[in-house]
Amino acid sequence: AGAVGAVKDRFGFAQVAANSEDTITVPEGFDWDVVVQWGDPLWSDVPGFDDSTRGTAATQARTFGDNNDGMSFFSYKGRTIMAVNNEYTNRDIIWGNNPDAKAVSEDDVEKGMMAHGVSVFEVTRDNNGKWIVVQDSDLNRRITPQTEMALTGPAAGHDLLKTDADPSGTISLGTWNNCGNGETPWGTYLACEENFNGYFSSSDEALKQTQQQKRYGINLEDWGYGWAKVDERFDIAKHPNEPHRAGYVVEIDPFDPNSTPKKRTALGRFKHENAEVVIATNGKAVVYMGDDERGEFLYRFVSDGVYTATGDNSNLLESGALYVAKFNDDLTGEWLALTPETTGMSDAEVRIFTREAASAVGATTMDRPEWVAANPNLPELYVALTNNKNRGVKPNAGGDDTSANAVNPRVENHYGQIARWLPTDGDHTAETFAWDLFALAGNPDVYDDEYAGSENINSGNMFNSPDGISFDSAGMLWIQTDGKYSNEGDFSGMGNNQMLVGDTTTGEIRRFLVGPKECEVTGICWSADRRTAFVGIQHPGEKGESHFPNGGNSVPRSAIISVTRKDGGLIG
Ligand code: FEO
Ligand code: CA
Ligand code: CA
Ligand code: CA
Repeated sequence: AGAVGAVKDRFGFAQVAANSEDTITVPEGFDWDVVVQWGDPLWSDVPGFDDSTRGTAATQARTFGDNNDGMSFFSYKGRTIMAVNNEYTNRDIIWGNNPDAKAVSEDDVEKGMMAHGVSVFEVTRDNNGKWIVVQDSDLNRRITPQTEMALTGPAAGHDLLKTDADPSGTISLGTWNNCGNGETPWGTYLACEENFNGYFSSSDEALKQTQQQKRYGINLEDWGYGWAKVDERFDIAKHPNEPHRAGYVVEIDPFDPNSTPKKRTALGRFKHENAEVVIATNGKAVVYMGDDERGEFLYRFVSDGVYTATGDNSNLLESGALYVAKFNDDLTGEWLALTPETTGMSDAEVRIFTREAASAVGATTMDRPEWVAANPNLPELYVALTNNKNRGVKPNAGGDDTSANAVNPRVENHYGQIARWLPTDGDHTAETFAWDLFALAGNPDVYDDEYAGSENINSGNMFNSPDGISFDSAGMLWIQTDGKYSNEGDFSGMGNNQMLVGDTTTGEIRRFLVGPKECEVTGICWSADRRTAFVGIQHPGEKGESHFPNGGNSVPRSAIISVTRKDGGLIG
């Protein structure tokens, strides 16, 4: 471990070079292993993954879902539990055994559906120290698009949430397209619903879309999942309110497999990325959230109640104030309250049509806000603004101006940037903040202008499209990418998607890991002792060029990997 031992800075590793290999690359002195992959059984009565059939709806409903994204690690009475989002499925992979890689049966469609949701399972280390799933644990649970959930908060019971199947507007079925995540100090998991729109379609080809449907991308055709063919509620011609019941943050108790997940309408309805929770000095729970769409916004929720370490916090996310960010060009910013007075909408409408509320108050259109990360050591937040080819080209779906501004400074931005802000007086409930840019991604080999990136970007560490970001407990910022992996032209020298580490005090960024072909690296959490980092590898081979992780001619499968140091030391 010479290179590792020789490093005397806060990084603890020597940078790895970019590459386009179909494997994981970690620094010298580190190991990686697969913990769980798409289709692995959570119960022993389920057959293992079969490359020739790629499973059935029944097996998929009891195995690890597809395309893992955000995840959290929980310690509970001496046991360890992982809760993991299974964001979506690549249709041409899950149905790749069929003609034209299309669904041919209802079971195919339902298999795709069951690949979505959340997987909760116990993990342990075997005799060799390898992290494995504890099959048949009483804590294991699959949450799917058919799991009953409670709609809570200001929009619960509103007419816009009522359907034929649920005239109360308080009970919805399932969650899907869960992207980033969050976890609360009171031990719950937050699964954030992102591109929920792509599953709805209309049996009436002449249906005229409402402005709200257009704003949220609810179209007459779905993205190829075909869910309306097996479940009529996904037909917006028949059930126009069903899409209003998705697009929320879902709170899940990972320690009680019989608990009812709660959709938190108080936190607003948009294409949620993650939900970063901090407790303000006055005890209120503050949740920072991005809306990942070109020209959409960054949000903050402040609870009405206060967190107490020994009290009941189960309703903290049920009521509170919602705000949207305005970034001024002079490096100041404001949180604009979204209320009936400021928006002209009812409080329930603010939570359901949150994008329209934010447009009404003049929030700053952003370059696709992905994850927000809070520094554990400072009252300081970071947000990944992944890219935005429409910046300076056309308005967002609400007609808001998207001219370049100081926090989104480049037109046709295909590299992305990471912004940070400091709440005034270190108070997460303050109405104002100061901000700057931590990094402008770019390619200094190709450009010598603003597209070269900021000073902390160089030929050795360059990347595009920062997406997942998270601080470790030592205060280092881990950066995962979901970008172009052609390694050509504007992206030459960047290789596959990757994970980097930033020292936010010096600005230095160093590449830690390179993923396999055609994956994105997303989702990260650490074991309680921080000697293992768990990292998500999503959609390897999304264009047909990977056999990760099993090699040969195997079907590529999304997976969670563990990363450890050969000397057993701390990660990060
Ligand atoms: Fe699912 Fe915004 O990434
Ligand atoms: Ca993402
Ligand atoms: Ca992304
Ligand atoms: Ca993704």
